[in-house]
Order: sequence, then C-alpha cells, then structure tokens
Amino acid sequence: MQNAGLATLGLNWRYLAFEVQPKDLREAIAGARAMKLIGLNLTVPHKLLAFEIVDVLDESAKAWGAVNTIRFEGKDEQGQWQPLKFFADDVPREIRSHGFNTDAEAIVLSLQEDLQFKVKGASVLVLGAGGAGRVAALKLAAEGVAALFLVNRTASKAEAVAAEIRQRFPGVAVSADYPKNPRADLLLNATSLGLQARDPSPLEETRFPIRGAKFVYDMIYRPAETPLLRMAKAAGCRTANGLGMLLYQGAKALELWTGQPAPLKGMRAALERNVYG
Ligand code: ATR
Repeated sequence: MQNAGLATLGLNWRYLAFEVQPKDLREAIAGARAMKLIGLNLTVPHKLLAFEIVDVLDESAKAWGAVNTIRFEGKDEQGQWQPLKFFADDVPREIRSHGFNTDAEAIVLSLQEDLQFKVKGASVLVLGAGGAGRVAALKLAAEGVAALFLVNRTASKAEAVAAEIRQRFPGVAVSADYPKNPRADLLLNATSLGLQARDPSPLEETRFPIRGAKFVYDMIYRPAETPLLRMAKAAGCRTANGLGMLLYQGAKALELWTGQPAPLKGMRAALERNVYG
C-alpha cells in the first residue's frame, strides 16, 4: 500500500518491513536516524515503547500514549524543524525523531468513509477494552459520541477505560456494560475474537441481539467477513471490516512523511490485492 502510494506520488522511495525485537527498538530507531531515513511505522509490540524513545511527541501520540509513526526531521536555516523530504540532498547533521499516532484518526475516518457513520451524537457499543478498544472508545468520546457502552471479558479493563472517559470527556454518558434497552447506533468489535475460525462470538446475544445495532464495524479484516459481520449483514445492519483502519493509518503516515495528500484509491487497491490476493 505504501509503495503503491509512493509510486503514484512519483517518489523514488521504498517502504520496507523489518522485524525488530523490543530490546533492539532503541538501536533500530537510532540506526534509522543515522541512515537519514524519512520515517518509520511501528506496530505491536513497539507502539508503547517508542513513546518513551522518540525525541519529541506530537499531540496525537500524547493523547493516546502510543506511537505508530515516526518522522525524522532536521533543522532548516531559520532553525525550524522540517521533515527530511524538505532538504533534498543536503540533509543537516542534527536530526530528531518525531512521534505521531495515526491509529485513532483512522478509526473515525474509516467509520465515516467506509460506513457513512456519523460519530457525533451517536450511541456506540464497543466490544473489547485492550489497546485497540481503549483508543477507539477514547477517540469516539473525543469526537462527541453521546453514549458509550464498553464490554470486555476482563470487566475491570472496561471499567478502567470508562473511568478514564468520565474524567477526560465528562459530556459523554459511559457505562461498562451492555445497554439496558438493547439498542445502539454502532456496534464496534475491538476484540481479537473472529480472527480464528473456531473463536466464539465477541457478542453476548442474550444481552444484545445484533439487530439492535444499525451499523456494525469489525476491526478484524482477515478474514474479510467474520461470523459477527455475517450475522450483522443477515440481520440487515450496515457493515464494514477493519481494512479501512489499516488504510487510513497508513495514508496519514504517508502524508506526514511527504507533506502531500495520500493517493487513497491506488493505496486501497494495493492493500486489497496484498491482503485478499
Ligand atoms: P489489541 O491491541 O488488538 O486491542 P489486546 O490489547 O491484547 O490487543 O486486546 C485484545 C482484546 O480482545 C481484549 O479486549 C481481550 O479481552 P481481555 O482484556 O479480557 O483479555 C479480547 N479477547 C482476546 N481473547 C478473548 C477471548 N477468548 N474472549 C473474550 N475476549 C477476548
């Protein structure tokens, strides 16, 4: 997806994947800086670690306590930090790593673009309060949902996220349980249930029949249709899987590195080809 985006933008850059052990992350980031790479993406389990390692944190990283995108920057003649793209061949000696998080933004973008779902004023049932569920719930709160219902196998984690939302976004009605009525505009699966064919459903249907949701979003994108999404479609709900989240977090990262709008169409096509064959 990134290489397709770079090709469309006419940039002679390459996006490569490297496997790095957590104990080596600091050295890997320092090495990338020494080699004057444009930037990096990081995924599990590096996002929290990188938060401690980068030289400066963007608000997006501070807000979620995690870094999934690094942009390397140098000082221009006016003493302003600029992305390395700015310098063409004369890259300055002093380079810093700037940490961003594009995951949270991607959730809302995918809900808007893939599901035509409007977050403001909506009620949302979030299944899962791990890393992804927590960020999704907090971002939805930040974007002005009216009501949030948080459900997690380990109830204490859902309660902790609910407490955090009450403190940071007091205007949002939040409960660490299924809605009593049982209705919600959106049901969002942020658990890992559905990745494996033998997984049980993430939803307790006795507590919340799927037809109680108008929209159903599953963060899982492989398989393309989880049993939850299949059931939701059969019940007449509008559905989308998490491929859009993957697309938009990458597109935002590309924009941070290049300063240009990401060519979404080509990136999505490349992503679909690579994920679904
Ligand atoms: P991620 O970063 O993808 O959110 P995570 O932080 O490990 O990964 O969270 C995984 C989520 O899936 C959690 O909500 C987890 O529930 P717990 O907090 O109780 O662990 C949920 N999950 C994973 N396996 C599950 C299972 N067998 N039954 C119910 N929930 C499960």
